[in-house]
Amino acid sequence: MYFCSMNHHLIAPSILAADFSNLGRAVEMLNRSQADWIHVDVMDGHFVPNISMGFPALKAIRLNSTLPLDVHIMFEQPALWIQRFADAGAYSLSIHAEASLNLEEDINHIHDAGMKAGIALNPDTPLSRVQHVLMQADMILIMSVNPGFGGQSFKSGTFEKVKQLKAMLDVNHHETLIEVDGGVDAANARKLLDAGADVLVAGSSIFKAADAVKMIKTLKELSSDNLTDH
Ligand code: DX5
Ligand code: ZN
Repeated sequence: MYFCSMNHHLIAPSILAADFSNLGRAVEMLNRSQADWIHVDVMDGHFVPNISMGFPALKAIRLNSTLPLDVHIMFEQPALWIQRFADAGAYSLSIHAEASLNLEEDINHIHDAGMKAGIALNPDTPLSRVQHVLMQADMILIMSVNPGFGGQSFKSGTFEKVKQLKAMLDVNHHETLIEVDGGVDAANARKLLDAGADVLVAGSSIFKAADAVKMIKTLKELSSDNLTDH
């Protein structure tokens, strides 16, 4: 249902920006919002200079949420961890192209474990790094900040990168989704959708809003009817 050509974009709030002392409340808020997925950022302290959360937190979110978990792992050697994330209840697993030793093998492995496969690209990593797996992957995650921390400002070069990826996908009618992650807010979301984004990840803009449910609604209801290329 989610990974097919869509008329409507998806909103994936990043739980990293939630108040971790009230994680249950944050998950409950997302359950009753218009969020489509919960984006969960997991960091290894090597691929990125930060650590976020691990399996106990992920399992707790899984138990308390009705939404699919869109897990983004910022890990060296992601292959070693694929099955563990499947066991913890991930719906989709995005690994970094910069860290994977063999993208085709890792995507197969993710699929065999029963998850959708995403490939994430850092802002400075060219699209050519994923050209050979565009059809095999379910999603390409375009980072619009350097990974490792929430709350950074959006890199405007992302618009062009998304447009180029969209054009590459359109050539062969690939149904691979384009997800954008980092510094996404109500000010840049429309332009990202116009460029071809299918899934918007937003952390700070949602959780720091006075009314998070309303902010999710705002992002969700940016109407695709008004978009030129959808
Ligand atoms: C950064 C993470 C992002 C981040 C998004 O390493 O991958 O998902 O949490 O948060 P904001 O929207 O605050 O940039
Ligand atoms: Zn992320």
